[in-house]
This record gives sequence, structure tokens and C-alpha cells, in this order.
Amino acid sequence: MEKGRTRVDLFEYQARDLFAKHGVPVLAGEVIDTPDAARAATERLGGKSVVKAQVKVGGRGKAGGVKLAATPDEAVARATDILGMDIKGHTVHKVMIAETAPEIAEEYYVSYLLDRTNRTFLAMASVAGGMDIEQVAAETPEKLAKVPVDANEGVTIEKAREIVAQAKFPAEVAEQVAEVMVTLWKTFVAEDALLVEVNPLAKVADGRVIALDGKVSLDANAEFRQPEHEALEDKAAANPLEAAAKAKGLNYVKLDGQVGIIGNGAGLVMSTLDVVAYAGENHGGVKPANFLDIGGGASAEVMANGLEIILGDPDVKSVFVNVFGGITACDAVANGIVQALELLKSKGEEVTKPLVVRLDGNNAELGRKILNDADHPLVQQVDTMDGAAERAAELAAK
Ligand SMILES: Nc1ncnc2c1ncn2[C@@H]1O[C@H](COP(=O)(O)OP(=O)(O)OP(=O)(O)O)[C@@H](O)[C@H]1O
Ligand SMILES: [Mg+2]
Repeated sequence: MEKGRTRVDLFEYQARDLFAKHGVPVLAGEVIDTPDAARAATERLGGKSVVKAQVKVGGRGKAGGVKLAATPDEAVARATDILGMDIKGHTVHKVMIAETAPEIAEEYYVSYLLDRTNRTFLAMASVAGGMDIEQVAAETPEKLAKVPVDANEGVTIEKAREIVAQAKFPAEVAEQVAEVMVTLWKTFVAEDALLVEVNPLAKVADGRVIALDGKVSLDANAEFRQPEHEALEDKAAANPLEAAAKAKGLNYVKLDGQVGIIGNGAGLVMSTLDVVAYAGENHGGVKPANFLDIGGGASAEVMANGLEIILGDPDVKSVFVNVFGGITACDAVANGIVQALELLKSKGEEVTKPLVVRLDGNNAELGRKILNDADHPLVQQVDTMDGAAERAAELAAK
């Protein structure tokens, strides 16, 4: 139920690993996250390396995120420069220490992608690869061959030769590039990818053709048959709130609305999402901001953790706490809310957004009295679920 996540973009080092697994020619490389680790990694590569920022954005080279190091000490210095660097709003937390390619003679571009508009797969290839391929595509599109690939036929060596011929690769590399196109297609299919891209595919001094940089996007909908892909996901970056909730053991899913939701029991929370979305239609289309089931217990601590996550969501404008007292009665939940508010205040995270609370079921009257007596300025009670949803939506729309 990880909403909105249909593709998983990988880091270059992860793409490199997948390429290696399927036979696409790559150079050795390992990922590190401290400058010191660059020394040993460079020593393992024979004393020199290329230090490459790992961020999921293009143009790393031009931003100073790809540097040659002629010695292990230099690798440490370059890693020091690059780690922590900001590249187009992406902080560099990891660098890849890569084997240095022999002198590069030419840089090509090759990729496969899912072409949704034409309901097919597409191979793209160009002899004008390297760092400016976007410009090539925009200004001299004739230099970028685009060849549809039939899903059932795939890319055989014959098909690969056809792609290579259309892109006008020089004769001396044509067969090598065709072989890369076959192994790259294997990667695309076997990994359920939406995109595999090599740029540059370099022709180096000794005549070899090698993938020096790769980009892979995986199809998140194929996860059920790709158990190994979960480990490739950058969970914390994908959704910091979900990652924080998970760390606290909360059953939380971020949605894209403005009304924070807390409820006890998955069924109740699901129907709360519905009534809030419905009420929101009368208030400029506000919607639920999340799913959060705090379960049966609803202790002060769990309530405080839940509120903390929800209030930490900048999209949230109001919060709807919807509780149906069962084994844990409403008075216990009300005490939990009061204590949670105090707990947050003592941590300097005082509630600043309006909270609409609806208590029903076991000991509801007592619970309501406890909240009334506590008289928190931002807490209001509404006794019906529909009424509370309406109020929370109205407050979020303000
Ligand atoms: N292992 C390597 N050895 C030698 N040169 C390399 C190596 N990796 C990259 N380079 C050189 O650095 C250039 C930029 O590297 P790379 O393609 O990985 O980054 P980029 O294109 O700037 O980043 P992005 O693909 O994110 O835009 C390459 O075109 C190539 O000339
Ligand atoms: Mg590149």
C-alpha cells in the first residue's frame, strides 16, 4: 500500500551491479559513504580510481561530482569534496569508487524504455553519447535512432544489429555494441525495468566497449516477483514520514491531502478516509493526509508518536482523531490524548494545528468529559463521525 510509487529509480552503483549480473560489460566499482573508505577501495583498484557522486539526478560530472584520483590519498581528498555536496538539490551521501577506464576514444548512448504512448518498448541508440545526450535529442534528433521492440520477439542478436545499423555505429565496434544491446535487453526484461540506459557506453583505448554510467528504473508493480528489489529501494528518501513511522512501529501510509487522520482499527480508519474525502468536497476538495491505525491499545505513548508523525507532515492543516472505544475504553484514550499533548509540549513540539476528536463506544461520556476538563485550546470535540469529518475538513480548508 505504498501509494504513488510506481517506479523505483536506482543509483548508478546499483545499476552497475545489475548490469554486471546480466553480462553488460562494466568496470569494477564499490560504493562507500566515508572519505576514509576511498583509500582502501582505491588500493583494491590498483592505486587509482574515479570518485563518483551517487545522486539520482543527471549532470553529476558538470556539477563537479565525478573526479579522477591518481592515488589513494587523492581519492580520499576527492571523496571529502564530493560527500555532502549538493547537486541540484540532492545531497551526496554516497560515492562510488570506480575503476578508471583506459583512455576513452568515443562515447555512445544506448537505452531501452517502456514507450507508453505507443504501447511498445523502444530501443534508443546514438554514437553522439556522453554528457550532452539531452541536447542531441533536442537539437539533432536524427543522431538518435529510435527502434520499437516487440515484447514477444525481444532483442535477438539480429534485432540488436538492426538497432546498431540504424544508429550508424562504426564497423569496428558494431558487433560489440550489438552484444551489449542483447545483454542490456536481458537486464531490462529480467529485472522488470521501465528504463535501462547506458551513457556513456565508451569505446576505450584497448578497443573494448564498456558501460561507464548507467541509469535503471524498476517497475514497482513487479515487486511481487522481484523479492530482491526491496533492498534496492531508498526508503528514507522515498518517504521520510513513512520511514519515521515504521521506526516507531506505527501502521502509517502517507497520502496527499491536508487532514491528518488517527483512528483505532484499520476498518475504522479506512472509513474515516472516506468520510473525510466526502466532507472535503464541500471545502475546496481537501482530502485525508494519511492512513494511521494506532490499534486497540492507544496508550499515551502511541498517541503521542502518531500525533508527532502527523504534525510533522507540512501538508497537514488539521487532524481528525476518530476513536471507537472497545476493550480500550474511551476514557483511557482521552487520557492518552491529554498525556500525548503534554508529552509533545515537554519535547518542545507543542500542537499548533487544530485537533478534532470524536469519541464513541465504550465509556464515551467519560472520555469526552476528560477532554472537556483538560480544555486544550486547539482540541475540539464533535460527537458524530460525519460531523467531526465535516469540522476537520472545514478547518483544513481555512
Ligand atoms: N570509470 C570511469 N573512468 C574514466 N572516465 C569516466 C569513468 N566514469 C565516468 N567517466 C567520465 O566522466 C564522464 C561523466 O561521467 P558519468 O556519465 O558517470 O556522469 P554524468 O553523465 O555527469 O552524470 P549523469 O549521467 O548523472 O548526468 C563520462 O562521460 C566519462 O567521460
Ligand atoms: Mg552519464
